[in-house]
Amino acid sequence: MSASAVKTLVTGGSGHLGANLVRRLLKDGYAVRVFLRKGSNNTALDGLDVERVYGDLRDFPSVVAAVRGCDRIYHCAANVSTLDGDTHFKQEIYDCNVTGTIHILRAALDTGVERVVVSGSFSAIGHHPSQPSDETVPFNPFYPHLPYGFTKSCVWHECLKAYADGLNVVIATSCAILGPNDFKPSRMGRTLIDFANGKLLAYVPGGFEFVAARDIVEGHILAMEKGRPGQNYIFSTQFVTVDELMGIFEEVTGRDRPKLRLPGAVMAGIAGVADFVFPRFFPNMPRRFTSGAVRILRMHRRADCSKAKNELGYQTTPIKDAICEAYECFARRGLIQNQTIPLGIGI
Ligand SMILES: NC(=O)c1ccc[n+]([C@@H]2O[C@H](COP(=O)([O-])OP(=O)(O)OC[C@H]3O[C@@H](n4cnc5c(N)ncnc54)[C@H](OP(=O)(O)O)[C@@H]3O)[C@@H](O)[C@H]2O)c1
Repeated sequence: MSASAVKTLVTGGSGHLGANLVRRLLKDGYAVRVFLRKGSNNTALDGLDVERVYGDLRDFPSVVAAVRGCDRIYHCAANVSTLDGDTHFKQEIYDCNVTGTIHILRAALDTGVERVVVSGSFSAIGHHPSQPSDETVPFNPFYPHLPYGFTKSCVWHECLKAYADGLNVVIATSCAILGPNDFKPSRMGRTLIDFANGKLLAYVPGGFEFVAARDIVEGHILAMEKGRPGQNYIFSTQFVTVDELMGIFEEVTGRDRPKLRLPGAVMAGIAGVADFVFPRFFPNMPRRFTSGAVRILRMHRRADCSKAKNELGYQTTPIKDAICEAYECFARRGLIQNQTIPLGIGI
């Protein structure tokens, strides 16, 4: 069957991963339907030849209407957050991520969808203190996880239940995404914008496993084409320390890193105070350093994506290219003032 005959639903198409995935699917010739929320910032899809269907993951009838008639689904939508949050927040993130995924999986089973790829998170993979984590390391619920991590662990569990019920579903697990078409923008995107505008005042040492947007998109396509049903595959590009990241940001933007490098323990203390103050006095203000974010950076988590490489032929691209592409996208959208490096020479 030609790609144009394969009706492909993408949830979360206005988000960072979804916006890159939709562009790749269109380039490959697929007929793409996107599931969007009315009233959200959906500019990531402006000008693209996609079929738009509106609803909310929490509303089952709207999910069924979006899924009906589709051959394949990429379920990328989720509430992505590093907040600990209050009871209301926890209920909301559970409803979007867990109940929303159950709705997608149930609708896919009911309407006979050929295959579903669900975006997983590295936060739902267990932590191994002395070696990189692969898909076999169990998620330990007694470790201090964020509500988001708990929900993504439940998402994986729900996928396995749907697989047991007969659904052809594969999980494509992502690490922290860096790259272009970040229209919301993401936490990492905001950090790059602030760095380029000289507004990043301090940073904390630490490190994390990052994935280039191009690579996680490729991972989702490979999971759809070659993934074994019921399996989870981790896709990462490389582990990067915050000091290394600051160095790449300097090269890409032509600006110096902030002079203030706060020790992790100090930043954890500041973030802890902010966790108390912000929800009470500035509830809607976006925050870069929550306690959860600082804790994750200090864990130096590493990923082992041998399974994706060996089974699916997954290959990575340079992380610096992803940062250059992100910078150029932000600059073209006017989010970076006084560019010191002309566009197009970064890569
Ligand atoms: N970003 C990362 O570093 C990272 C790391 C690991 C895993 N992941 C996973 O990758 C996937 C994509 O993440 P992302 O970075 O692209 O996230 P994102 O930029 O925050 O986008 C999330 C998307 O989900 C949609 N969404 C959220 N709640 C919804 C609901 N109730 N109904 C319908 N749509 C809803 C959002 O639409 P609205 O604009 O309407 O809210 C948005 O389009 C997620 O499953 C996430 O867990 C991401």
